[in-house]
Amino acid sequence: MSSERHFRIGVLTLSDKGARGERVDESGEVIKQMVDDLGDVCRYQVIPDDFARIVETLSGWVDEERLDLILTTGGTGMTPRDVTPEATATVLERLVPGIAEAMRAESLKKTPHAMLSRGLAGLRGSTLIVNLPGSPRAVRENLAVILPALPHGLAKLKGDPSDCAI
Ligand code: MTE
Repeated sequence: MSSERHFRIGVLTLSDKGARGERVDESGEVIKQMVDDLGDVCRYQVIPDDFARIVETLSGWVDEERLDLILTTGGTGMTPRDVTPEATATVLERLVPGIAEAMRAESLKKTPHAMLSRGLAGLRGSTLIVNLPGSPRAVRENLAVILPALPHGLAKLKGDPSDCAI
């Protein structure tokens, strides 16, 4: 693995059932497998769809653990318990709208339900946070869209001053 791909990653699954042990977290596993080439998953947790818990966990992983990338899964839809984007928004300092735009645009080619995901992507300090939808299939399809751009984006976030190759 080249150093460019040695990023510190957190995987946060938002699921009431998962947190109660009533559902196996397949989506978190999909993420872990897909980011294997990108770096190490240093933090992994399954917590309920609880606004305060999400804010607390994301803030801690950024401000104390200094992760490079946090991928969340779940809670991006329209049920009353889906609060991941709102919680993430309070943690973010700068949005990276293109990431969410690209995921929805590509996903719409597969299902019209893609427009129902309200996921955000953005930066807090030098950490990139991306909200993925909850199902394993949605995780696979969305993460595949953004993975090719992540090594370059994360290198820039860490302060790589070199010019961008065309
Ligand atoms: N995106 C892709 N690529 N594939 C999918 O199957 N599912 C959608 C959407 N995005 C889906 C997808 C569905 S059904 C919903 S409700 C929203 O993501 C929100 O999912 P969440 O509430 O589990 O986060």
